[in-house]
Amino acid sequence: MKRSTLILVKTLTWLACLAPLAWLIWGAVTNNLGADQIHTITFATGRTTLRLLLIALAITPVRRLVPQLSWLIKFRRLLGLFAFFYASLHLMTWVALYTGFDPHAMAADIVKRRYITAGMTAWLLLLPLAATSTNWSIRKLGGKNWNRLHRLVYFAAVAGVIHYWWQVKSGVLTPIGVTVILAVLLAARPVLTWRQRRKGHAAVVRPLVPSP
Ligand code: HEM
Repeated sequence: MKRSTLILVKTLTWLACLAPLAWLIWGAVTNNLGADQIHTITFATGRTTLRLLLIALAITPVRRLVPQLSWLIKFRRLLGLFAFFYASLHLMTWVALYTGFDPHAMAADIVKRRYITAGMTAWLLLLPLAATSTNWSIRKLGGKNWNRLHRLVYFAAVAGVIHYWWQVKSGVLTPIGVTVILAVLLAARPVLTWRQRRKGHAAVVRPLVPSP
């Protein structure tokens, strides 16, 4: 990919990632966040977190399926960090507007409400990933350990989706879309590894098979 195209795609990615925040700020300034502003902010930040996590998770399988799109890897860290940024805004909305910064109310909510427990788990799983997202951390940990640690992103996404299911009213099926996408992405990993192994095996075996 040409350098100028890469800069353009990076700029567009930054703008797309910042758009939900701009929308929320604009809504707050123009008093347009609806009747329940706290819900609007919580829902927008929560949904954006999940969307960005799923897009970041989709990059590896897409690269493996379409090698021409290998350059997408340059965007995975950016998307992951934006997912953590929105998860932290989402968490801060809860800390400030749901619990009023009261540590007792926070602890009680985490223990009492299972969807808060799951959300907190998801955020805590993302924290070490954001903290080790620098090139320095990759060098310090070594590629293998870094990759192993960053598999936590799958668990964070699962905890995020469970959190989503547990906070909707029973009978509401809005989380179904993200659940199906996550299931496909989780299944893609072993399926693609198996396919690659078979191909690799075929490549080794093929020369031994006499040509017709
Ligand atoms: C990776 C982490 C997280 C993800 C992906 C996530 C995602 C979501 C989603 C998608 C929603 C529902 C939005 C909707 O119905 O439109 C939601 C709601 C909510 N989340 Fe999270 N969340 C995360 C972490 C947290 C954390 C750490 C907390 C607080 C400790 C939290 C507290 C809430 C609350 C209070 C609601 C709204 C419930 C309501 O008022 O009905 N979330 N979250």
